[in-house]
Formats: sequence, structure tokens, C-alpha cells
Amino acid sequence: MSVVITVDGPSGVGKGTLAIKLAQVLGFHLLDSGAIYRVIGVAADRSGIALDDENALVHLAEHSDMQFVPNVKSGPVAVMLDGEDLTVEVRTEKAGNLASMVAVLPALRAALLQKQKDFSQAPGLVADGRDMGTVVFPEADLKFFLDASAEVRAERRVKQLQAMGRDVIFNKIYQEVMERDQRDRNRKVAPLAPADDAILIDTSTISAEQVFEMVKKTISKQLGLL
Ligand code: DC
Repeated sequence: MSVVITVDGPSGVGKGTLAIKLAQVLGFHLLDSGAIYRVIGVAADRSGIALDDENALVHLAEHSDMQFVPNVKSGPVAVMLDGEDLTVEVRTEKAGNLASMVAVLPALRAALLQKQKDFSQAPGLVADGRDMGTVVFPEADLKFFLDASAEVRAERRVKQLQAMGRDVIFNKIYQEVMERDQRDRNRKVAPLAPADDAILIDTSTISAEQVFEMVKKTISKQLGLL
């Protein structure tokens, strides 16, 4: 039997960091579902496919060879598309916004459903995204939903980008965080929302290490793992 743990929440809340650490300590597989939407957004942008051309995007999703390799240094996963390394390109703010735009399309989400379910393999999976606990793995063994204020998430993103040597303006990043939230929470299909049985964690005032320790304790108590 294979265990599934889901970690959902808005952008910049620390899901990726938590998910990869959990997958490592548990020896589980990792699904960074945002990377799938990011790679499709980037591929569409490169090949001039309109972001609302649902048929073309479904075709792209069904006929491209996407590989996701867990990699701590490059965000949760390194990303290959048809043999090309897109790891750096998919992590930009632009790629995040492209991902959020294609992610509103119901047929595209449906086409990606089985691909995501296929990540669930023994001994277990940690799945990170927006609808892992609600749509992709409604029967998951344990569900977490991380949240934090938009200000805090924008501030963290600014620090990350500055650490990478980038010149960034807080207001611009804050605006982008708000727009992405708006789109992800209000779309018709699989909107960002906690599952009824998810454990909610507000990460606004606690560190990534504290979140990890809280989650670890819950996993140990509820699943007898760790
Ligand atoms: O988690 P992320 O920032 O890499 O996700 C990028 C975008 O992809 C996000 O703004 C919305 C979309 N997404 C989604 O709709 N469903 C998921 N399960 C994961 C991501």
C-alpha cells in the first residue's frame, strides 16, 4: 500500500521547501504539480500558442516528454521538456504567471489528472500544489494546507530574488502575488482551497524549520511514520 501526503497552499507559502524535505526524510516520491503547469506555460509561450487555446495546450500536455527530477538546489524539482533542461526558466515570475493562466482551463486540468495520479507509487508520495487534497488525491492519508498573508509571501519572494542577485521592487512582486492568488482562488475548476479534512497551518510568523517540525510531529502521530 502506498501512502499519500498532500501539501496545498498559495504561491510563496513554503510548500515546495516543506514537500521536498518531507519526501527526503520519508524516502517518498515527490510531485511538484506547479512545475507541470509552469512547463506547459513556458512551452506555450515559446511556441506562440495562445494561453487560452485549450485544444493546442491539451495536445502539448499529451505529446511532450516531461521529466521532473527532485533537486534541492533548483526548487523542488529539475525540469526537462523533450530533452531540454528548463529548470531555470520555469522558476521565473513570468513562468509562474503563465502557469497560473493556463491552469484555469478545465480540459487541460483534466488531461493532466492521470499524469499526476501516476506519481503515487510505493512506498509513498508527497504531493505539492493547489488541488492535491481536493481533486487529485481526495483519498490522501494526510492533508496539509499552508497559508500566509500576501505581504509576508511577497516579502519572502523579494528576499529570495535579492539573494539571487536580482534587483526587485516590493510593490511589483506584491501585485503579482495578489493577481496570482486572485486567479488561483477564483477559477471555476479546482480553485485553490483547503480540503475539508486538511490541517491548516498559518506560516506568517513561523520559520520553515518550525513548520517542518510541526508537520513531522503530525505525521508521526497520525501515520506512525518518522
Ligand atoms: O506552485 P507553483 O507556484 O509552482 O504553481 C504555479 C501555478 O500553477 C499556480 O499559480 C497555479 C498553477 N497550479 C495549479 O493550478 N494547480 C496545482 N496543483 C499547482 C499549480
